Amino acid sequence: MRLKDKVALITGASSGIGKAIATRFAEEGAHVAVNYRPGGQSDADAAQTEAASFGPTSIAVAADVSRREDVERMMYEVVAKFGRLDIAINNAGIEIKRAFLEVTDEEWNRVINVNLFGSYLVSQVAARQMVKQGYGGKLIFISSVHEDIPFPEFTAYCASKGGVRMMMRNLAMELAPYKINVNNIAPGAIATPINQAVLADPVAMKNAVSEIPWGRFGRPEEVAAVAVFLASNEAEYVTGSTYYVDGGLTQQVTLY
Ligand code: BGC
Repeated sequence: MRLKDKVALITGASSGIGKAIATRFAEEGAHVAVNYRPGGQSDADAAQTEAASFGPTSIAVAADVSRREDVERMMYEVVAKFGRLDIAINNAGIEIKRAFLEVTDEEWNRVINVNLFGSYLVSQVAARQMVKQGYGGKLIFISSVHEDIPFPEFTAYCASKGGVRMMMRNLAMELAPYKINVNNIAPGAIATPINQAVLADPVAMKNAVSEIPWGRFGRPEEVAAVAVFLASNEAEYVTGSTYYVDGGLTQQVTLY
């Protein structure tokens, strides 16, 4: 058990990578607070999250990460239940596919608000709690390979993830004196609901897989495995880095 008795908050954990992290952390002995957005993607998802047990002491906490009052209430609930916070995983994220010439302000703001502003809010509220506790902690961002590589028709998404990359690097410096480790995990193409349209379309799927040196999509559990390491005591001296979990996608350069 690599996370025995650690208290972890995972945002956007009702599906995909967040859910896999919550499940694995519970198996590793952590107490997990599973965040989901109320009235979100589907109310069925939320209801399922409420009911699911991610270990004997897990709780489900509703919050829209892009609203400060929600995030502060969520932290209050976590600390009221477990007495402290050791690990915060900024996983909640959305993307909207739209040609740059067509993007509306509303779409742009929605993506930036969840992915970048939400990560800022959760990190700040979590870091303040960790500093108050006085014995360090772990902040982990689930960014994307698109924190670095372009993705046409996903400009807001790329801007948000590039922003998360710089936020992580700044926080790694500012929070080092408090022994808070700050790192990114950059998943490539992982089989989760965010990729539903591609996964359901054999032609799009074939194209996508042809870009991945490893020859397949990743599994959420493969991202969770890296999160366990970064959240564990073994990562004591690891801060300010991005860990790619992408089957080599970022190394793929198509010349012609
Ligand atoms: C995006 C996916 C995309 C993958 C690889 C992820 O960050 O959410 O839509 O397939 O990157 O390009």
